[in-house]
Amino acid sequence: MNDAAKPDIFYPSEEVLNQANVNEYEEMYKYSVENREQFWAEQAETLNWFKKWDTVLDESNAPFYKWFDGGQINIVHNAVDRHLENANRNKMAIIWESEHGEVRNFSYNGLNREVCKFANVLRSMGVEKGDIVTIYMPQIPELVFAMLACAKIGAIHSVVYGGFSTEALASRIDDAHSRVLVTADGGWRRGKQIDLKSIANAAMERSPSIEVCICVKNNGLDVEMEPTRDFWLHDLFALPIASSKCETVPTDAEDPLFILYTSGTTGKPKGMLHTHGGYSVYTSTTHRMAFDIKPQDRWWCAADPGWITGHSYIVYGPLINGATIMLYEGAPNYPYPNRWWQIIENYGINILYTSPTAIRGLMRFGDRWPKKHDLSSLRLLGSVGEPINPEAWRWYHNVIGQDKCPIIDTWWQTETGGFMVCPLPITPLKPGSATKPFFGNELAVVDDDGEEVEVNEEGKLIIKNPWPGMARTIFKDDARYAELYWSQREDGSWRYLAGDSAKIDDDGYIWVIGRMDEVLKVSGYRLGTAEIESALVSHPKVSEAAAVGLPHELKGNAIHTYVILIDGVEPSKELMLELKTHVGNEMGKIATPEAVEFVEALPKTRSGKIMRRVLKARALGQDEGDLSTLEE
Ligand code: PRX
Repeated sequence: MNDAAKPDIFYPSEEVLNQANVNEYEEMYKYSVENREQFWAEQAETLNWFKKWDTVLDESNAPFYKWFDGGQINIVHNAVDRHLENANRNKMAIIWESEHGEVRNFSYNGLNREVCKFANVLRSMGVEKGDIVTIYMPQIPELVFAMLACAKIGAIHSVVYGGFSTEALASRIDDAHSRVLVTADGGWRRGKQIDLKSIANAAMERSPSIEVCICVKNNGLDVEMEPTRDFWLHDLFALPIASSKCETVPTDAEDPLFILYTSGTTGKPKGMLHTHGGYSVYTSTTHRMAFDIKPQDRWWCAADPGWITGHSYIVYGPLINGATIMLYEGAPNYPYPNRWWQIIENYGINILYTSPTAIRGLMRFGDRWPKKHDLSSLRLLGSVGEPINPEAWRWYHNVIGQDKCPIIDTWWQTETGGFMVCPLPITPLKPGSATKPFFGNELAVVDDDGEEVEVNEEGKLIIKNPWPGMARTIFKDDARYAELYWSQREDGSWRYLAGDSAKIDDDGYIWVIGRMDEVLKVSGYRLGTAEIESALVSHPKVSEAAAVGLPHELKGNAIHTYVILIDGVEPSKELMLELKTHVGNEMGKIATPEAVEFVEALPKTRSGKIMRRVLKARALGQDEGDLSTLEE
């Protein structure tokens, strides 16, 4: 059968149906939304609590909801400690492979030892409950140890993606006011060494709050260490303070676990704050149900722990569920485009969870690379980060999933903590749709007046209920959190505005179309136009700048920028390249613009806001729409 003749709906096989952790959706969904608190209490019961909660959901100060208030828990108690008391103790928790082939494995017992030592080291550096530790690392096991070590002692982690650069790191350190930074000498990417410590040094100069920098030796780069501030982790581990015993601190369910910065509509990134209790319940439940996790599974979420996908589904959800997790530091196509397929074969990976960009990127090398490998261990595949185009979906399904693996397309956000819309393995699939709401969630598509639109009509995606994994606030900015995300209806109910446009079809399947605000998804990474613009304007020759996203075959969107130069500076090709590099140096390579266009003026509203939609329409040769607010 050729592709065009294939049905639009893919039904799960008998095998998938027979082994599903959840073998019925509709009735359970109905139960979960009609008895939301009961449903989530039942899920919470599967975890270990130091003290049981008083209330499941406290709505008294909406939209600042509280979940499992009065309860005491620690996510590490569930992700590590409880496994030490059962058969998981000697089970593999982490398998790590580096680009150049180094392999390190940690059992749950070994993971506990590393986390305890790290936690004791942090304590010895004065880190206390409630302190925010910034972590800037390549994708190595120590990144996971550092996160868990913070959580274990009740400190809050703020992980900054290792692909970000000086300004992005400095502004996040600054906002969090971190005293301690954990980093590494460097990382590997495509055979090249990435000099993280130099970037960290430059960032620490810009953000003076750092008093202690703990540095992991990863690739042996010769780096500059400031003697009174910087310490090698292996030196600290050799001291008696780094004992391998450390009690996990009970935290209140609503105590902060981490902040993670994400790009928003305006200005600087927002530190989304997540808590111990609800987040533990939500990530583990979604992971267990949507990905049918079994005790023998080897789970590979090929994201970076520096993004929410990595927080929730490399580290916390899978470890709570006692899975074996695969970590790979390196490029998917290094040294050849079969690297990932080789990893799947070598380690017998059962579930692969990745992004449409990665799939498209590997698809372009052709079928012969995956076909060299035995991928029969794969049972399920997952997708996240942006809408998956049907062509990539089919290739993923046919070639990687050998027509037998359901594709779990999960729609969610940094703010939601975990999957909001996703199929279960038993759900009939339509390529390009994340299908139906996860249990407990009610979603809708509304127009500008907040009225629900007709079936198949496009509008704004909203969530009509609170859920345990939701971010609790924007760090230090409650007002902005309430204003940006929540609106109250006349009947008193609250709605969460996702910032995405979407439609819902006749079968109730949700089709997410894309962002509606000034957020760009580039290769699945979330970037704000404001951050890119401010990186451009920080160049001495730039007076004003605007950034928009234009469709790109591989990346989903590519960054196009428009620049007004300061008086007297002439546009040139060299300057264009210089500006591209400048943005890459300030923000990180992922933010490097595809194009820099020099212009004399930018379309603005009378109040001076850049009209990016006009720039975008012009670039695409489309109708520029309503121009009535355009400045003369
Ligand atoms: O636009 C949606 C898109 O990614 C946004 C959230 O980005 P971030 O906070 O970085 O989290 C990404 C990983 C959870 C959303 O507003 N998005 C995420 N998953 C999907 C998606 N768009 C379509 N389909 C998805 N499965």
